[in-house]
Amino acid sequence: MFDRIAYRYDRMNRVLSVGLDQRWRARGIRELALTGTEQVLDMCTGTADLAIKAVTATGGQAAQVIGVDFAGEMLRLGLDKVRKARLADRVHLVRGDATNVPLPDASFDAAMVAFGIRNVHNYELGIREFARVLKPGGRLAVLEFGRPEIPGIKQCYRWYFKYLLPIIGRMGSKHNEAYSYLPASVDQFPEPDAFAAMLKNHGFATVRTVPLTFGTVYLYIATRG
Ligand SMILES: C[S@@+](CC[C@H](N)C(=O)[O-])C[C@H]1O[C@@H](n2cnc3c(N)ncnc32)[C@H](O)[C@@H]1O
Repeated sequence: MFDRIAYRYDRMNRVLSVGLDQRWRARGIRELALTGTEQVLDMCTGTADLAIKAVTATGGQAAQVIGVDFAGEMLRLGLDKVRKARLADRVHLVRGDATNVPLPDASFDAAMVAFGIRNVHNYELGIREFARVLKPGGRLAVLEFGRPEIPGIKQCYRWYFKYLLPIIGRMGSKHNEAYSYLPASVDQFPEPDAFAAMLKNHGFATVRTVPLTFGTVYLYIATRG
C-alpha cells in the first residue's frame, strides 16, 4: 500500500494535516535533546522526512541517522531527498522490517518513529526491537495519531478524520483504500495510557505522554532502562 501511494505521500501529508505534520516531527526531534554526537534510528522512515529533519534541526541534531522501512518505493523517494539535500554522508536508508531490525543490539543513542508504529502488524515486537537496539539510557520518541477527547473538537475531528479525509485522500492519492485505512487503524491503536504501559513493559523505564494539537497526535518520550 505504501509503495503505491509513495509518489503522492509527502504532498498528502502536508494537505491532510494542514501543514502541521512537519511541526509534529520537529517537536519529536526536539524532545530527543540531540547534541550532534548521536547515532539515531528512524524506524518506518518512509520518505525520510523525520530522518532528514533530525540532521538539519536547529537547536540539536543527530550525527548520523539510519532510516529503516520495508517499502522500497518509499525508500527510493527518501533517498532522492537525502541526495538532493546533500546529506548522504549523514542519513543512511536501509530496507528492513521493524519486527526484525537488521541492526546489532545496543547500537543507537536514540530512536524515533513518526506515524509508523501503528502500521507495524505486531507493534509489540516493534517496541521490543526498539529496546534491543537502544543503548541503556537511550531515548525514544514516538509520534502517533490520537483521538481527541475535548468536547466539540472530538466531534469535528471525528467527522473530518472519518469522512472528509478519506475522500480527499482518495482523490489526491488515487488509491482507494489507503486513506480509509488511516482512520480505521487509528481507531484500533491503543489509548495513550495503554501504549505508555506497553513501552514500560518492554524495558523503557520512564515514559512521558504529550498530547499535541488537542490530542489529534500524541508524542511519547521514553528512556531505555
Ligand atoms: C505512515 S508512513 C510514515 C513514514 C514516515 N515515518 C513519516 O513520518 O512520514 C508508515 C511507514 O511505515 C512503514 N512500515 C509499516 N510496517 C513496517 C514494518 N513492519 N517494517 C518496516 N516498515 C514498516 C511503511 O512502509 C511506511 O513507509
